[in-house]
Amino acid sequence: MPEKEEIVVFDSGVGGLSVLNKMRTFLPNERYLYYGDISNAPYGKRETAEIQRLTLAAVEPLISEQTKALVIACNTATSAAIGLLRQKYTGFPVIGIEPALKPAVEYTRTAVKERMPCILVMGTDRTLLLPKYRALRSRFEKQARIVELPATGLVPLVESGKRDGSEVEALLRSLKASVAQFAFDAIVLGCTHFPFVSEAVLRVFGPVPQFDGGDGVARQTARLLRGREARDKGGEVLFLSSANTASEKERYETLCRALTERKETEVK
Ligand code: DGL
Repeated sequence: MPEKEEIVVFDSGVGGLSVLNKMRTFLPNERYLYYGDISNAPYGKRETAEIQRLTLAAVEPLISEQTKALVIACNTATSAAIGLLRQKYTGFPVIGIEPALKPAVEYTRTAVKERMPCILVMGTDRTLLLPKYRALRSRFEKQARIVELPATGLVPLVESGKRDGSEVEALLRSLKASVAQFAFDAIVLGCTHFPFVSEAVLRVFGPVPQFDGGDGVARQTARLLRGREARDKGGEVLFLSSANTASEKERYETLCRALTERKETEVK
């Protein structure tokens, strides 16, 4: 039996690359298969059953004897389908992502004294509505005032290669208007696409610490694979997608290259 030697990373599009980047830092010698369901993104405004169907259908052909772990690098797909995936795949760890509310609350516990801290959670419409996030929120609502901001509209911008500039900033400003009465102590980027617009978020919302779940997922995967780390795959990635046309494929490839730039590779 050959060694299982591939970590499958799934997202509705290119957002999961923000997680893949962290995974390659924590587990630098693995081989990765990254899949973006770009022809169906964004998932964030779809119904739960549809997200479940799309996720299960996209993941199935990616799984093989070689699969060492499956990482759902998408808050929306995790919230909708992680239970179904764990039922279906039992021979390897299935790791999901959730909005990084816990690290944000931990940060405010020491940074904000003598008043209730206020935390903004940005996510897709569906993530913020689903029971998984509602349960997470209820664990922390005694420790912080938690304000949600559905921001699925940012996803198509990132998918089209826009990370900064007037369109991203204009959308962020209009989103901010709906929560203008609050002063935030921390911002949770609860969608894996959002770390790619973090500089624009900083400009629009000001110098407030931002938290995303990528680190937690990478640490958890490394912990679950301890003792079984690959030594020689060098972090190589095979990028696959549901692109239908040559131009979609080209756009995806260009974005994958741009969003996975690794400084340490340049240094070598
Ligand atoms: N990147 C995904 C997430 O973390 C979802 C984006 C979408 O397709 O709406 O929620």
